[in-house]
Amino acid sequence: MSGSIRYGCAVTGTGSDMCAESRINTRETSCDSGGSSALRSGGWRRRGPGESIPHSEHPVSIAPMMDRTDRHYRWFARLMTRRVMLYTEMVATGAILYGDRERHLGFDPIEHPVALQLGGAEVSEVAEATRLAEPYAYDEINLNIGCPSDRVQERGIGACLMRDPEHVARLVEAARRNTSKPVTVKCRIGVNGKESYDDLVRFVQLVRKAGPARFTVHARIAVLGGLNPKENRDVPPLRYEDVYRLKCDFPEVDIEINGGVTSVHQVREHLQHVDRVMIGRAAYDRPALCAELEVDLFGEEPPCATRREVIEELMPYVEAWNQAGHPANRIVRHTLGLVAGRPGARAWRRLMSGRLPYQGRPLLERALRELPRDTLDEPLVSGASLREREMVTGSSGQASEESRRPCRPRRAGDSLLAGIDGSHDTAYQ
Ligand SMILES: Cc1cc2nc3c(=O)[nH]c(=O)nc-3n(C[C@H](O)[C@H](O)[C@H](O)COP(=O)(O)O)c2cc1C
Repeated sequence: MSGSIRYGCAVTGTGSDMCAESRINTRETSCDSGGSSALRSGGWRRRGPGESIPHSEHPVSIAPMMDRTDRHYRWFARLMTRRVMLYTEMVATGAILYGDRERHLGFDPIEHPVALQLGGAEVSEVAEATRLAEPYAYDEINLNIGCPSDRVQERGIGACLMRDPEHVARLVEAARRNTSKPVTVKCRIGVNGKESYDDLVRFVQLVRKAGPARFTVHARIAVLGGLNPKENRDVPPLRYEDVYRLKCDFPEVDIEINGGVTSVHQVREHLQHVDRVMIGRAAYDRPALCAELEVDLFGEEPPCATRREVIEELMPYVEAWNQAGHPANRIVRHTLGLVAGRPGARAWRRLMSGRLPYQGRPLLERALRELPRDTLDEPLVSGASLREREMVTGSSGQASEESRRPCRPRRAGDSLLAGIDGSHDTAYQ
C-alpha cells in the first residue's frame, strides 16, 4: 500500500481559503508525526515501538456491511476480538420507524462497542430513528453518506448526500439532538462531479459545524450512475493521501480511514497518519484477522485461541437460536472464512453452505470430526505473528491482567435473543 509515502502539511494546491487557513494552523501541530488520537498527549506524535494502546480506545473497526455484519456475525467476531469496534449493517430510518424495530435494532451486550449505522435523508426521520434507537444503548450513531447504490440514491440516501454538505450537517444535528452518544459520519473522499480534494475539504468544513464526533472516509470516490456498488468498492482508485492530508488540514478532527486494508501491518501504517482504521471485506472474509489485531496491535490474547474453541463456543449459541426458531444457516454462513487458507478449507465451506440442516450443533460437531486436527488446534494467530508482536509492541507476549482472565462471550442462552436476524436491505448487492 502507499502507506510508506509520507504526506505532510507541505502538500499544497487545494485552492480553498478555508483549507489554506487550516493548513496554516496545521503547520504548528507537527502533523508530520501523526498517530492515533488515543496516543496523543497534547500535540500529535508517533507511537513508540513498545507503546500499547489504552484499553478504552478502539482505533480499529469492522465496517458496516449489509447482509454481513448482522448481530450473528458480530457475536462471532467477538469470539476473536474484544477491542475492535463493530458496526451494524446500514439500517434505513424507515425500517426503524415503520418496521420490526426489535429485529433491526436488537443486539447482544457482548457486541459492545458497537455502532448503529443509519441510512436516511429526511431530517425528521433521522431524528426520530435516532430517538427510537436510544434505549438500545448503541455506543455510537453513524450516518451513511457513502453508499453508492442506485436504490439508495433514489431515496436520496448515501453517497449522493456528499453533494449537499449543508443537508448532511442538518442530519448530524438532528441525530445529535436525539442521542447522548457520539454521532459520526461515514463518507467517501468524493463523488463524481465533486471529486477533488477541495470538494472533500468543503464537505468536512461544512459538516463539522454540526459537531460529528468523527469522519470515517472511504478513500475512493463513488461513481454514481456509472458503477454498481461492488465496482464502486474496487474500480475507483484508492487515494489514501487525500485522507492523510485531511487529517493534516483538520488535526483536531477525528479521522478514520477505510478501503483496501487487509493486514495488521497496513493498520499500523495508516495509524501513523490518521486516528483510526476501518476494515471491511478482509475482516469478514478472513476472520482470523480479528485475532491478529487483538494480538499484534493490542498485545492481548484473543478470547478464543483456536478454531476448535471458536466452533465450540458457537455450538450453544446456534443451539439457543435454533430453539428460538431460527435455522442454523443464518448464523453459520458468517463462518465460511474461518478456515480460509488452511487445510480443510474446502470441507468447511462445503459443510457450512448449501442446504444446511436446521439444527446447528450436529453440523458443528461433524465439522469438528472432519476437519484436520492441525487446522482446528493451531493458534488463530501464527507463531510468526506472535514473534512480530514481541518485536513491534515489546510486550514479550505478556497479556494484560484482563486479557488473561478467561473471557468467553456470553452464551446465547444468557442473552435476550431479542429480535430476529435477516438482512435489512439489499442496497449493497
Ligand atoms: C457486502 C458489503 C456490504 C456493505 N454494506 C455497507 C453498509 O451497509 N454501509 C456502509 O456504509 N458501507 C457498506 N459497505 C462498504 C464498506 O463499509 C466499506 O466501506 C468498503 O467495503 C471498503 O472497505 P474494505 O475495502 O475494507 O472492504 C459494504 C461493503 C460490502 C462488501
